[in-house]
Amino acid sequence: MEEVKVVLYGVGAVGSLIAKGLVEKRGVKVVGAIDVAKDKLGKDLGEVLGLNKKLGITVSSDVDATISKTKPNIVIHATSSYLKDTFPQIVSIVKHGVNVISTCEELSYPYYSEPGIAKELDKLAKKHNVTVLGTGINPGFLMDTLVITLTAVCQKIEKIEAIRVMNAATRRLPFQKKIGAGLTVDEFQQKIEKREITGHVGLEQSIAMIADALAWKLDEIWAKLVEPVIAKEPVKSDFIKVEAGKVAGLRQTAKGIMKGKEVIVLDFQAYIGAEEEYDAITITGIPTIKQKIQPCVHGDFGTVAVVINSIPKVLKAPAGLLAMKDLPVPSAVVGDMRKYL
Ligand SMILES: NC(=O)c1ccc[n+]([C@@H]2O[C@H](COP(=O)([O-])OP(=O)(O)OC[C@H]3O[C@@H](n4cnc5c(N)ncnc54)[C@H](OP(=O)(O)O)[C@@H]3O)[C@@H](O)[C@H]2O)c1
Repeated sequence: MEEVKVVLYGVGAVGSLIAKGLVEKRGVKVVGAIDVAKDKLGKDLGEVLGLNKKLGITVSSDVDATISKTKPNIVIHATSSYLKDTFPQIVSIVKHGVNVISTCEELSYPYYSEPGIAKELDKLAKKHNVTVLGTGINPGFLMDTLVITLTAVCQKIEKIEAIRVMNAATRRLPFQKKIGAGLTVDEFQQKIEKREITGHVGLEQSIAMIADALAWKLDEIWAKLVEPVIAKEPVKSDFIKVEAGKVAGLRQTAKGIMKGKEVIVLDFQAYIGAEEEYDAITITGIPTIKQKIQPCVHGDFGTVAVVINSIPKVLKAPAGLLAMKDLPVPSAVVGDMRKYL
């Protein structure tokens, strides 16, 4: 069997990590790379990834030419969190009859915020006989797919709560900046207003996916504005020192309300100095389930794994716009990917 041919669309922080994972994976051949960033265009992908070798793949901004020339089985897309940006990009791939896995958070469950786009994408994917999936560690796994999987042992469910607490000091600098670490509270609020800090995107999508899996008709999904986590005492990472009273990171919560009751509550916290890092899920019901992963799953490693491990499932899936809840039980691709096809 031939190797799975992959084109990368977006070789930024996460796209590069996925690319490195794919270059090392047996049964996969990276055949092309698309990006618009000036520091990457025209360079060899090996150089962009910081590898000590050339891969013979030049990073191009020309989507049509790259896909027509390389004829991939799948494109791994990692450019933006928002469907308004990614929709035309995904369309440009699907029109070539090529499957897509994207890390776009809003694509993980677009039926909630963008039902029109979701319908159009589903129709287009079916027309071109390809599968489109939005996934990653979160949204995509920790606060939705894993939660849904755990509900399988419940006979009754009253409430679902999931919390993710990350010590941002253990993450890369761009992530620490993205959550506002080191800013004053005023600076943080200004950046929120200018949308330079957007916080975690995807809590509403995770809630909508859980609710749909359980056939719960929610009255509403309520998302609280991003809140700063203020350092009570000085904390630091290798890159940033946070004085007491300044912003160490952020917290975001969202709730799914049904018949006036909070039935799904998601709580995302990422800040420098978090003493305990964990992912915890509590399902109150029959039976009540409490699950805790300690330390929390590393976001970058987890994203690379969820994306790469989803490739065979997407290649074998029916055509259309799918969500993680529509695919078989998630699992790892260990060794040569061709064994899973
Ligand atoms: N679901 C999850 O769990 C999960 C996990 C990780 C990341 N994500 C999301 O995945 C996305 C990518 O993450 P990242 O950290 O890699 O972001 P990033 O570092 O900003 O990289 C994105 C790359 O795509 C390029 N790009 C932007 N628009 C493009 C276009 N129209 N055509 C081609 N290339 C384009 C960017 O170029 P410029 O720099 O010039 O714009 C950049 O090189 C983000 O939205 C992130 O939030 C989701």
